[in-house]
Amino acid sequence: MSDLPHGKEGTDNVWDAMYTQRAIRYWQDKPVPREVLEKVIEAASKAPSGSNLQPWIFMVIDDEAQRQKIGDALNAVYEGGPLKDMIAEGQKSDDKTQRLMLKGAQSFFSKLAKAPAIIVPCLYKLSSPTPDPGSLEAGSSIYMAVQNLMLSARALGLGTVMTTAHVLINDPLREACNIPDDAYPAALIPIGYPDANFGPTTRKPVEEIIIWNEWS
Ligand SMILES: Cc1cc2nc3c(=O)[nH]c(=O)nc-3n(C[C@H](O)[C@H](O)[C@H](O)COP(=O)(O)O)c2cc1C
Repeated sequence: MSDLPHGKEGTDNVWDAMYTQRAIRYWQDKPVPREVLEKVIEAASKAPSGSNLQPWIFMVIDDEAQRQKIGDALNAVYEGGPLKDMIAEGQKSDDKTQRLMLKGAQSFFSKLAKAPAIIVPCLYKLSSPTPDPGSLEAGSSIYMAVQNLMLSARALGLGTVMTTAHVLINDPLREACNIPDDAYPAALIPIGYPDANFGPTTRKPVEEIIIWNEWS
């Protein structure tokens, strides 16, 4: 049994935060104060970026009507496309972790509006290490900020789940939030006080993922 914290409390211990920052897809019906949301965006902004140009804007959607619009758009994609069948099929898996993940994903796709806030980090005025927002290198100038955001949320007892669901609802998302054409959503992250516990994550052992000196 691990000593890592289980539960809904925050933590100031960076190891505990990293090791128990699970994907959270269930929310308490409790708003997150704006100053707390501001704090996680500030923590995100402490991340490095190419030439320290900080090519980002963080859209924070806490307005109920707007969350509903975005949630409805995602639910329509879920109901109208292959995602629903894929998730239903995957839930027959023998692997309990996989089944739970897909149950959570189902809730995410169909009930996103229940999240007290949705954060959409956008690449904006990107020039370093590349001006091409569609490239792998572009991600290096924003996803470190995203991880800072998620870890600081964990520290404050807020749950998040990193998703790329913005690509499924590009047009309605842009319209609902008035995102200009020269800004590029990079993720869609619901955030709120969790109605699920933080706890140890299931990951490959370090021996399996490390290679010293020569890949052979
Ligand atoms: C690039 C990326 C895209 C993801 N997209 C989705 C998504 O569309 N829907 C969802 O419910 N979870 C999504 N996730 C969350 C992953 O399923 C989750 O991080 C992973 O299963 C690990 O979960 P754990 O930290 O609880 O172990 C995504 C994660 C990443 C990193």
